[in-house]
Amino acid sequence: MLLSKLVAVILLVSVTEAIPRFLAKRAAPILPLSTKGRDILDAHGNVFHYASTNWPGHQEIMVPEGLQHSSIEDIVAWFPKLGLNSVRLPFAIEMVDDYFANSPNQTLEKSVLNALGQSNGTKVLDQILSKNPQFSKTTTRLQVWDAVGKELSKQGVIIHLDNHVSKAFWCCGDDDGNGWFGEKYFHVENWKRGLAFMTKHAKENWPTFASIGLRNELRAAKVAEPVDWYTWYIHMTAAAKAVHEADPGALIFFSGLSYDTYIDPIPLGKTLNGTTGTSTAGKTAKFIPSDFAFEDKIVLEIHKYDFEATQDNCATFKRKWYQKGFQSMNPSDPATKYLFPMVISEWGFIHNGTYWNQTTYAKCLIEMVEEYQVSWQHWDISGSFYLQTRPGRKPNETIQGLEEFWGLLDYQWDDIRSPVTLENSLYKMIAALKS
Ligand SMILES: *[C@@H]1O[C@H](CO)[C@@H](O)[C@H](O)[C@H]1NC(C)=O
Ligand SMILES: *[C@@H]1O[C@H](CO)[C@@H](O)[C@H](O)[C@H]1NC(C)=O
Ligand SMILES: *[C@@H]1O[C@H](CO)[C@@H](O)[C@H](O)[C@H]1NC(C)=O
Ligand SMILES: *[C@@H]1O[C@H](CO)[C@@H](O)[C@H](O)[C@H]1NC(C)=O
Ligand SMILES: *[C@@H]1O[C@H](CO)[C@@H](O)[C@H](O)[C@H]1NC(C)=O
Ligand SMILES: *[C@@H]1O[C@H](CO)[C@@H](O)[C@H](O)[C@H]1NC(C)=O
Repeated sequence: MLLSKLVAVILLVSVTEAIPRFLAKRAAPILPLSTKGRDILDAHGNVFHYASTNWPGHQEIMVPEGLQHSSIEDIVAWFPKLGLNSVRLPFAIEMVDDYFANSPNQTLEKSVLNALGQSNGTKVLDQILSKNPQFSKTTTRLQVWDAVGKELSKQGVIIHLDNHVSKAFWCCGDDDGNGWFGEKYFHVENWKRGLAFMTKHAKENWPTFASIGLRNELRAAKVAEPVDWYTWYIHMTAAAKAVHEADPGALIFFSGLSYDTYIDPIPLGKTLNGTTGTSTAGKTAKFIPSDFAFEDKIVLEIHKYDFEATQDNCATFKRKWYQKGFQSMNPSDPATKYLFPMVISEWGFIHNGTYWNQTTYAKCLIEMVEEYQVSWQHWDISGSFYLQTRPGRKPNETIQGLEEFWGLLDYQWDDIRSPVTLENSLYKMIAALKS
């Protein structure tokens, strides 16, 4: 008994230590956010850092994951419990297209049954309605998002929206139709309309809505507009303008190329070129912040995963990664032309209790955050997904009720998946931020 009490005390101490000072700030009216040089500032002029995890809502059913396992209120409660001050909410443009088309498929019933089939869909729908009795079969997707947005606001969690895909399914694969402007599903006008709609809707209905990411993980595509920085410039700045008109207070996140693994041409002020032999041949642009009405709303985002299972020492890891865009955070680098805040808007790895220590990734990421004081958004909270379809695999994989081994929560969304992993990554990432 003594031993177990001692263990309980130790646990309590470590949990209390891990749950940081963000809590005190949560309720404060810190919005809108803006940028100044390399920093994001809150409404009082204090430096603000996102410490978030992703809560995906962009797959086939097009509502945030996990609602068959837990109530919205209980899922949201994990954010302050884990010490996170914000959330990244990935959504699909298809949801907004259906809204404008007044499609009958927008109800929870149709959304779930169309995705999971009659038999499994009926079961999952019943589970969702039993865990979240405020909903009915005729509740629409957008009404579910509103319930999520309002509960996040009620519990003081800052909301970042992320346009993850156009067509709603797992992101991202080469040539999956969602990757580049003009690709099979990526209709540029629908995308801009969807961004403006969601921004305005969130601003008007979710009090802690703060920011939006224009597009997740842009990547090369064989059948699309030319894949070059000039095309990036044209569409991303037009989209940012639409977002800024929808909510002049929102921060706007710009992602880079190749699955958002680099964005250095922007802080370095490079000429953004078109592509020889295509419709953008000979065309150039420059991304000059003072050209834009949203000059003090621009944030860069970058992703970092550990696909190469890195064993680099952290000095090497940081030096290589710095070159991908962190010049934007370093006023003393002579190569830096424009300063912007950076957000690591996706990072993560399997929470199986050992991986955090199998490569140097987790440790070096913490050092990167300590050194550059850079906001981050972990992938992800989900213990499981309603379903996942990954087109382009052979055969195309569609798995219902897929377990998400990278998730902070377990399969049932009712407990932490791997305490030792949190102690050695998420909690240290929180502690690495000085404000
Ligand atoms: C509704 O979904 C069904 C099944 O996916 C599809 O066949 C139908 O075309 C959709 N209807 C509309 C109006 O989008
Ligand atoms: C329906 O659910 C069962 C049990 O979860 C699963 O084994 C089965 O694969 C699902 N059906 C489809 C079509 O995915
Ligand atoms: C665009 O072309 C110019 C001239 O070749 C080059 O200096 C610059 O680095 C290119 N921009 C990018 C982003 O590669
Ligand atoms: C965790 O995952 C890694 C990478 O897949 C694997 O090498 C390791 O054996 C796993 N650990 C456990 C305890 O399963
Ligand atoms: C794993 O943990 C041990 C003990 O703390 C440490 O010596 C080692 O450097 C770690 N390995 C990695 C790859 O971080
Ligand atoms: C598999 O995915 C590809 C790429 O999206 C798609 O064109 C094809 O129709 C899919 N095949 C099946 C059997 O669903």
